[in-house]
Amino acid sequence: MNSKALITAIGTYVPANRLTNDDLEKMMETSDEWIVQRTGMRERRISHNDEFTSDLCIKAVENLIKTYEKNVDDVDLIIVATSTSDYSFPSTASRVQEAFQIKNTGAFDLNAACAGFAYALTVANGLVSSGVHKKILVIGAETMSKVINYTDRTTSILFGDGAGAVLVERNEKAPGFYTSIMGTDGSGAQHLYLPGLSNQLDAEEMKGNKFIVQNGREVYKWATRTVSEGIEQLLAQAGMGTNDIDWFVPHSANLRIIESICARSGISIKKTLYSVEYMGNTSSASIPLALDIGIKERKVKQGDTILIYGFGGGLTHAGIILNWGVPNLSETHE
Ligand code: UT7
Repeated sequence: MNSKALITAIGTYVPANRLTNDDLEKMMETSDEWIVQRTGMRERRISHNDEFTSDLCIKAVENLIKTYEKNVDDVDLIIVATSTSDYSFPSTASRVQEAFQIKNTGAFDLNAACAGFAYALTVANGLVSSGVHKKILVIGAETMSKVINYTDRTTSILFGDGAGAVLVERNEKAPGFYTSIMGTDGSGAQHLYLPGLSNQLDAEEMKGNKFIVQNGREVYKWATRTVSEGIEQLLAQAGMGTNDIDWFVPHSANLRIIESICARSGISIKKTLYSVEYMGNTSSASIPLALDIGIKERKVKQGDTILIYGFGGGLTHAGIILNWGVPNLSETHE
C-alpha cells in the first residue's frame, strides 16, 4: 500500500455520569459477578438526556486541539463514524463543521456499526494518499444509551457512550498505513441491528421495538472466527508476524471476545489495548478510546506498529495495520 497519510493527533471525551454494575443490579435481574465474568465490564459512561453524539464529538475535537496544539481551520473533510447520529440528517459531521466554523470542508457520517472507526480511517487514508484531501478529522462517536432498552438485561449491561477523534494528515515521509481490509456478511444482519424505517428484520414479537436487538451468542461466534481470520490476512498482506505488532486494539465489545481472539491469533493480551472495562461497548468510539488509554498509560509511542480491528452490526468488520504518528505527550500532559 502506498500510503501518504498519517494520524497526527487524538482527542477523546466520555460523559461524566457512570453506570456501574451495582447500579444495574438495582435496575434488573443481574449481578456484578455475571457481568464481570461474561464481559469484563465494570462501568459505562452515560450521556445526559440533552447530550447527543455531536456534543461528544465536539468535546473530543476540543480535547484533540488542546492536547496537541492543532488547528482545525484547514480541515477539508470531516467523517463521523456513528450509528447514533443526532438526526438521520443533517449529519453529525455537519454539526461538528458548524461548531468549529470550518470554512472549506466536506462532512458526512459513515455507518458501519462497531466497525465504523476502522472503516472511516480506511476511507481517510485512501482520500489523503490519493491527493483528494489533505487533512481529515475522523471521529468515532456514539450515544448508545439512547437506543438501549433498560429492561433488557442482555443488551443494557453492555453499551456505553463516548467519542474519539483523530486527525489524518498528508505525510510524504513515513507511511502511516501499511495495509487494511474491510468485510461484510449481510446474511447475519438479523443478529445485531437497530430498528429504522423498515421492520423486515424483526421477529413478530419484536415489531414496534425501537431499541437495539442482538443475538449475543451468534455475534460472539462470528466475531471470534472472523476477526482472527482477518488478522491472519492482514499480517500476510503486510508481510509481518505478530512480533512486529506493538499494540493490538480490537473493538471493545467484550473482554472474553478479545481474549479469545488473542488466543486464536497468538497475540499476547499484554500488548492488547481495550476500553471495555470502564466504558463498556462504545461501538465506533471504542478503538480511539482504547488508544487514548494506552497513551495516558504511556504505553503507545510515536512510531509504534498498531493493529486495529473493528467488527459489529452488518455484519461488518475492518482491520488496519498502521504506523502511529501521534507525538508522545510531554510529562506535563496527563
Ligand atoms: O459490538 C457489537 C458486537 N457485539 C458483540 O460482540 C456481543 C457478542 N456477544 C456477547 O458479548 C455475549 O454473547 C453476551 C455478553 C451478550 C452474553 O454472554 P453469553 O455468555 O453469550 O450469555 P448467553 O446469552 O448465552 O446467556 C447465558 C445465560 C442465559 O440464561 P439461561 O438461558 O442459560 O438460563 C441468559 O438468560 O445468562 C442469562 N443472562 C444474564 N444473566 C444475568 C443474559 N444476560 C444476563 C444478565 N445477567 N445481564
